[in-house]
Amino acid sequence: MTIAVYPGSFDPITLGHVDIAARAAAIFERLVVAVFDAPAKSLTFTSEDRIAMAREALAHLTNVEVIGFHGLTVDLARRVGAQVIVRGLRAVSDFEVEMQMAFLNRRMAPEIEVVCLPTSLEFSYLSATMIKEIIRLGGPTEGLVPHHVGEALRQKYLGDASTGPVPRFLNS
Ligand code: PNS
Repeated sequence: MTIAVYPGSFDPITLGHVDIAARAAAIFERLVVAVFDAPAKSLTFTSEDRIAMAREALAHLTNVEVIGFHGLTVDLARRVGAQVIVRGLRAVSDFEVEMQMAFLNRRMAPEIEVVCLPTSLEFSYLSATMIKEIIRLGGPTEGLVPHHVGEALRQKYLGDASTGPVPRFLNS
C-alpha cells in the first residue's frame, strides 16, 4: 500500500489545501494530512483547532486521516510508514522553498520521495495570510475556505460582530 504524508501548518486549512489533499487521495491508497504543531511563524489557531478544522474539511475523503505532529516531517513519515511526502505548488514563488525542503528532506530520508502537485488554477492565488486580511476587513470568503473555516476566522477576528454560531472547535 502506498501511503503519503501531506504536512503543513494549515493555519487554517483553505480550499487550496483541500484541492491538493483530494488530488493526492486519488493517487495514493492512504493519505495522512499532518498538522505541524510549531511552525516558525505566528499562528492564528491552536494545533487542536487546526486539526479539527482540517478533519471537518476533509471528512468526505475516506482514505484521508488528519493527525497533529511534533518534530521532523521525515520522522513522522517513517512512523506512519509513508513512502511519499506530498506538497502543493501554487506558483513559481513556491518552487524555491519547496525545492529547498525537498532536498533537505531527501538528505535526511533518501528512501522517501517528495511529490509536488500543482494546485488548480482557481486556488493558485490563495494564501492563508491574505484570507485572514480579507476577513479582518469584512470581505467575503466563499470559494476560498470551507464554510466552517470562514466562520471560525470571522469569530476569531470579528468576535461578536460575526454572524452565525460560534464554531464548536474554537477553544476561546
Ligand atoms: O504549510 P507550511 O507552513 O508551508 O508547512 C511547512 C511544513 C510544516 C511542511 C515544514 O515547516 C515542515 O516540514 N516542518 C516540520 C519540521 C521539519 O521537518 N523541518 C525541516 C523541513 S526541511
